[in-house]
Amino acid sequence: MTGTFSVEVLRKGVEERDIDAINSLVAQLLGKVKKGNKRSSQNRRTVTLLQEVAAIMVVRNGGSIVGLGIFSEKPTLTHKVGWIDDLVVDENFRRRGVGEALIKAMIEAGKDRGLERLNCTCRPEKVPANNLCLKVGFKFIGTINGTNFHTFEYGS
Ligand SMILES: CC(C)(COP(=O)(O)OP(=O)(O)OC[C@H]1O[C@@H](n2cnc3c(N)ncnc32)[C@H](O)[C@@H]1OP(=O)(O)O)[C@@H](O)C(=O)NCCC(=O)NCCS
Repeated sequence: MTGTFSVEVLRKGVEERDIDAINSLVAQLLGKVKKGNKRSSQNRRTVTLLQEVAAIMVVRNGGSIVGLGIFSEKPTLTHKVGWIDDLVVDENFRRRGVGEALIKAMIEAGKDRGLERLNCTCRPEKVPANNLCLKVGFKFIGTINGTNFHTFEYGS
């Protein structure tokens, strides 16, 4: 599997078939299996997230989720800003363009919503994630409390 990937937005609940894949990706994101992170609790958490955030975006391979990212908006009185969180691709599917497809879909989502900026943070040691942000046009703003801060400016 290489090439162009279609990105799907999870809109209603999480299907039973997706729970294990999401759990596995969460464990890879954290570098460990979170204690007490059972299927049911992860399912509840994901369903709650769906109600709270703009979109959970996923890429599938043969029906199974192999990558995901969360796109959300944090409007303030003065700015329309979006955030990317929890971007992760299954380790068996990395370096094939899945992460790039996801982040580009989130940039497009922000454009559609008229955002001024889209932010993404990652620790400096997460070299693939930092490189990915720079590749798709994010600017490195600086390191704040040990976390690299990247922003994508939409322009007027
Ligand atoms: C970051 C991550 C999502 C990238 O996903 P991916 O599908 O492997 O990335 P892609 O194949 O789309 O790569 C796109 C670009 O990202 C960068 N990149 C990806 N993997 C890289 C690696 N191992 N080393 C250096 N750069 C890398 C490159 O710029 C690459 O472009 P190129 O192929 O032209 O060099 C993935 O490595 C991951 O899940 N990491 C663990 C979780 C994580 O750190 N998430 C970020 C939290 S802030």
